[in-house]
Amino acid sequence: MEVARTIKSVREFVKAARSKGKKIGLAPTMGALHIGHISLIEAAVKECDFVVVSIFVNPAQFGPGEDFQEYPRPFEADLEICRKAGVDVVFAPGPEQMYRTENLTWVSVEKLTEGLCGRSRPTHFRGVTTVCTKLFNIVAPDTAFFGQKDAQQAIVIKRMAADLNMPLEIVICPTVREPGGLAVSSRNQYLNEKEKKDATFIYKSLQQCQQLIRDGVTQSDAIISEMRKILRQASSIEEIEYISVVDAETLQDVEKVEGAVLVAVAVKIGPSRLIDNILLDTSKE
Ligand code: PAJ
Repeated sequence: MEVARTIKSVREFVKAARSKGKKIGLAPTMGALHIGHISLIEAAVKECDFVVVSIFVNPAQFGPGEDFQEYPRPFEADLEICRKAGVDVVFAPGPEQMYRTENLTWVSVEKLTEGLCGRSRPTHFRGVTTVCTKLFNIVAPDTAFFGQKDAQQAIVIKRMAADLNMPLEIVICPTVREPGGLAVSSRNQYLNEKEKKDATFIYKSLQQCQQLIRDGVTQSDAIISEMRKILRQASSIEEIEYISVVDAETLQDVEKVEGAVLVAVAVKIGPSRLIDNILLDTSKE
């Protein structure tokens, strides 16, 4: 496995692989790799002949007062995980590689970034779409892999690639959960035992939602208020930032559950802000 610290060197590795006719896969990450990331890497290794994992804690997607400084950076352990998973190149640029001067050019996706996490993190998605565009331009993958865990991000990236005719395929991999249901996240590390236990109520609330819909409840308000009751049972959930039932494509709130909907939750628990979601297609339930 190679470690590329510069744009120039990762381009050289990819160029050599492409000249041999290899299909290039990219899994963009911010490191602190866990089984959620590994699932993306495994999908990439399975579908592609040459896999690049990028590790870059992207300052542009953190807002003021967010955890950019504290974000875990266990680089050696990350490299070991990548090595074991069969990655060909880890691209780990320094910030000076990615943002050489004051950045004046941004890629923004409208509408889809306004609701859900975009409401409390108004510059977050612009940071994500800009850095992903840069990574796509640097690595030029045939396929890039993202996780359903960050549902809004996945939808935004897909839309960006389609709107800008980016010549790559975006693959979305299912959310990997701990045995208790908690979606695996680098930010779970910030939680103590009690908070971690309470965090399982997030997925419990989503399961309750699924059950209610199966039982024929279709009013979003009714579903949201039942989910809220479940989240209130967890005393370390200090704030429910949102519980939203939205159209799975437009991310607009729906009053009534019909067709494909995304049910998404964001809560503040101890020092972490955690998000989770489920996609439901009621026409198939
Ligand atoms: P990061 O949080 O490191 O996540 C990297 C990728 O792993 C994302 O596509 C995310 O959805 C996926 N992922 C994280 N936890 C997962 C889980 N439990 N199950 C499945 N997939 C999971 O998301 C980012 O970094 C950044 O915004 C990035 C896209 C790298 C741009 O900077």
